[in-house]
This record gives sequence, C-alpha cells and structure tokens, in this order.
Amino acid sequence: MEKGGVGVRVLALCFLSLLHLAAAGRVYDVLRYGAKGNGRTDDSRAFLNAWRDVCADRDNPTLLIPYRARFLVKGLTFQGKCSSSVTVKIDGDIVAPEWFWTNEYVSLMAFHNVNRLTVVGGGEIDGKGKIWWDCFNRKEGKCVNRPNIMSFAFCNDLTLRGIALRDSPSKHLTFFASARISMSRLRISAPGDSPNTDGMLIALCKHVVVSSSTIGVGDDCVAIGSNTTNVTVSNVKCGPGHGFSIGSLGGDSSPATVKRVHFLNSTLTNTTVGVRIKTWMSGGTGQVRNVMFKHINFTSVRKPIQIDQYYCPARNCQNRTSSLTIENVEFAHLHGSSSDELATELLCSKYHPCRGIVMRDVHFTWNGVAPAKSACFNVLSSRSYGRVLPSLNCVAG
Ligand SMILES: *[C@@H]1O[C@H](CO)[C@@H](O)[C@H](O)[C@H]1NC(C)=O
Ligand SMILES: *[C@@H]1O[C@H](CO)[C@@H](O)[C@H](O)[C@H]1NC(C)=O
Ligand SMILES: *[C@@H]1O[C@H](CO)[C@@H](O)[C@H](O)[C@H]1NC(C)=O
Ligand SMILES: *[C@@H]1O[C@H](CO)[C@@H](O)[C@H](O)[C@H]1NC(C)=O
Ligand SMILES: *[C@@H]1O[C@H](CO)[C@@H](O)[C@H](O)[C@H]1NC(C)=O
Ligand SMILES: *[C@@H]1O[C@H](CO)[C@@H](O)[C@H](O)[C@H]1NC(C)=O
Repeated sequence: MEKGGVGVRVLALCFLSLLHLAAAGRVYDVLRYGAKGNGRTDDSRAFLNAWRDVCADRDNPTLLIPYRARFLVKGLTFQGKCSSSVTVKIDGDIVAPEWFWTNEYVSLMAFHNVNRLTVVGGGEIDGKGKIWWDCFNRKEGKCVNRPNIMSFAFCNDLTLRGIALRDSPSKHLTFFASARISMSRLRISAPGDSPNTDGMLIALCKHVVVSSSTIGVGDDCVAIGSNTTNVTVSNVKCGPGHGFSIGSLGGDSSPATVKRVHFLNSTLTNTTVGVRIKTWMSGGTGQVRNVMFKHINFTSVRKPIQIDQYYCPARNCQNRTSSLTIENVEFAHLHGSSSDELATELLCSKYHPCRGIVMRDVHFTWNGVAPAKSACFNVLSSRSYGRVLPSLNCVAG
C-alpha cells in the first residue's frame, strides 16, 4: 500500500515534469540570432528573425530576450498566426532609439493576430519618450503621431505578467479586437506631465482582467474605449495620471458600447480625475452600462468622480441632439480627499439623462479637512445609500 502510494507519486511527478517540459518547448534566444544587446546597435532584425522561427514552431516555443543585456529595437511587428502557443520572455531590457524613428502611428513592439501569447519577465521596456514629449509640447508636426510602446491587435488568450514599461512617447499598452486578456504585476511609469502617455487603452475587446499593478503616467492609468465588454481592474495603484476612465466615447459616427466594467480594490493618488465616464458632446450613439467602481481610496485627487457628457476639448463641437446613454453605474465604498472643492460631478446629457446611478458609502473631503461640493444634472431613477458626501441633489437619498 505504502509502496504503491510512493510509486504512484513518482509516476505522477514524472508525468508532471513531462507536461512541464512539453509546455516549456524550445527556447529561441535573440543573441543566437545576432542581437548585440549593447543598447546601441539596432537589434530589430535579429528579433524578427528569431520570431519567424518561434512562430513556425509547433511545440510551445519561447522567444527569449535574455537577462543582463539591453536591446535597442524599433517598430517591430510580430505577425501571427503562429503554429502553437508562444511565450515571449523579457528578462533583459529593451530600449527605443533616442531619435525620431517614425512619423507614423506605430508601436515599438506590435503583436498582430498572435493567439495564446504570454509575455512575461522582469525586464523593462523604455520608450525614451522625452524627446517626443518636448517636440509635441513645442507643437512640431513631426511628432503628432508618436509611437506607443506595445500594442496587441487580434490576439486572443493573451497574458502579460511582470514586465515594466516606462516613458512611452505616447500610450504604453494598447489592446484592440482581442479576447481573454489577463494582466498582472505590471509596472508602468512616466512623468505626470508627459502628454497623452496612457498606461493602457483597451478597445474592441472582451473578457479582460487587470490586477496587482502599479501605473503612474501623464494621462489615463486605464482607459476603456468603444465596444468593450467584461473588464475587471483590481488592486491597481494609480498615480500620477488622469485616473480610471471609460471614454472618451462617441467621437465618431459609429455606435459605441461599453458594458460590464468593474474597477475594484484600488488606490488613486495625486491624479487629476479619479474615476470617470466621458462622452463627446457633439453626438455619437450607443450606451455605457453595468459599470462599477468599488472599494477605491483616493488621496489628493483633483476630481474624484466625474461623468462628463459634454466633452469637447477644442470647444468647437456642434450642438447635436444625439448622445450615448449611461445606465446602471454604481459607485460604492469610495473614500478620500479631493484637491478641488468640487469633488463629484455628474453632468449627463439633456437628451438622454443618466439612469440607475447608485452611490453607496461615498465620501470625500476637500484637502482632507473641508467639506467638498458636487454638481449634478440630468440624472433620473438614481439612489444613494449610506453616507454620501458631498451629497448630490439629483440622486435621491
Ligand atoms: C503630483 O503629481 C505632480 C505631477 O506629476 C508632481 O509634480 C507632484 O510632485 C506630485 N505630488 C505628490 C504629492 O506626489
Ligand atoms: C468575464 O471575463 C472573465 C475573465 O476572462 C471570465 O472568466 C468570465 O467568464 C467572463 N464573464 C462573462 C459573463 O462572459
Ligand atoms: C462597435 O459596434 C457597433 C455595433 O456592432 C458597430 O456598428 C461599430 O462600428 C463598432 N465600432 C467600432 C469602432 O468598431
Ligand atoms: C482603503 O482604506 C481603508 C481604510 O484606511 C483600508 O481599510 C482599505 O484596505 C483601503 N483599500 C485599498 C484598496 O487600499
Ligand atoms: C476586493 O476586496 C474585497 C474585500 O474588500 C474582497 O472580498 C474581494 O475578493 C476583492 N476582489 C478582488 C478582485 O480583488
Ligand atoms: C447649444 O446651442 C444652444 C443654442 O445655439 C445654446 O444656447 C446652448 O448653450 C448650446 N449648448 C451647449 C451645451 O453648448
């Protein structure tokens, strides 16, 4: 009996390690493909050559960017479909050139049509954004289309874990038309005043989980774009930046839908906005519904809560009658300090008032000491529960 038990266990162990080996597959090291890893030579070609072999391998291969090296690359497209699941292991660092290497809307590293992709490692990807921000701030034409660091399009079953991204010329991560994305333990950083450096933009995606990450940037920590469903963001530390944002939506004529988005158990520190839903004033159709912001702590957030259906940064919007509808949005257990007196703003559309807003135990103080204020209009069928401060005159207690 005893012996049999041990035997079974040994067998099970062998079987497990076989499984493990099978899952690990062959490792393709970019150094073997001629990458220099000295931070100066352009290693783009070596990366792409290695990718060609990785993508053709049928047995769960790994593209390795090894530790103790720094690889200069630019404008890489990792094209699928691949023959198997693929791991990209970023143990070393990757760095963008410190010159204007594109005038198109591209990424330092783009993944297209790669399914079952895992990007892991403790390495850092540095977008060397400073020259681009300075150029943008000087309003020079050549840096209107600034590159992002990493983008994913048509990538289903995608996992990102552990990597660090810093100083993107534009957004750090973008996701389009992808399903089942899981992100954890990411570190994303750029100065609070760097222009449009969102932590991540997620659009046309479904089933997304973001957890246990730190994001401090010059724009939204997490932005949710149109036609996105089932997103859960939890245990994220955001700041500086513009907070957690749904939108802006309705900027073009096609209908936009955002459903089932939850931001939970997070902290916002020194951000301009806390949590917001933003739609263009001049029109757009579609809906935002079933959104929850829950268990979030705010420290020195200029405006902790905002629904803004009058978004029009250039102030040249046509005054149209259409607009998206916003329905069933719950703000629950949100506490902390605002740095503006006006802490909560629900500015809904005159034509399609917001409905089903729930405020549950939501309280802010202005600078941690004084009472804060709210603004609220075009809100119907909405309720507040528990302590809600500042109170909202268009939400029944
Ligand atoms: C808040 O963010 C701004 C912009 O990044 C920065 O200059 C300032 O030092 C930050 N303040 C605190 C208290 O972290
Ligand atoms: C939402 O996404 C999660 C994570 O991918 C998934 O487990 C869950 O089944 C999805 N929920 C629905 C209703 O599709
Ligand atoms: C979003 O979905 C709607 C309805 O399916 C579609 O008409 C619209 O073009 C989509 N938007 C984008 C940006 O793809
Ligand atoms: C928010 O603050 C409360 C009280 O200080 C604390 O119990 C809770 O764990 C904090 N939540 C998060 C997500 O940090
Ligand atoms: C969020 O925190 C609550 C307790 O405050 C916990 O019950 C829940 O499981 C947490 N959810 C996530 C996704 O972290
Ligand atoms: C829309 O137009 C009317 C009349 O032209 C103007 O009075 C009103 O202020 C405009 N609304 C907004 C939100 O700009």
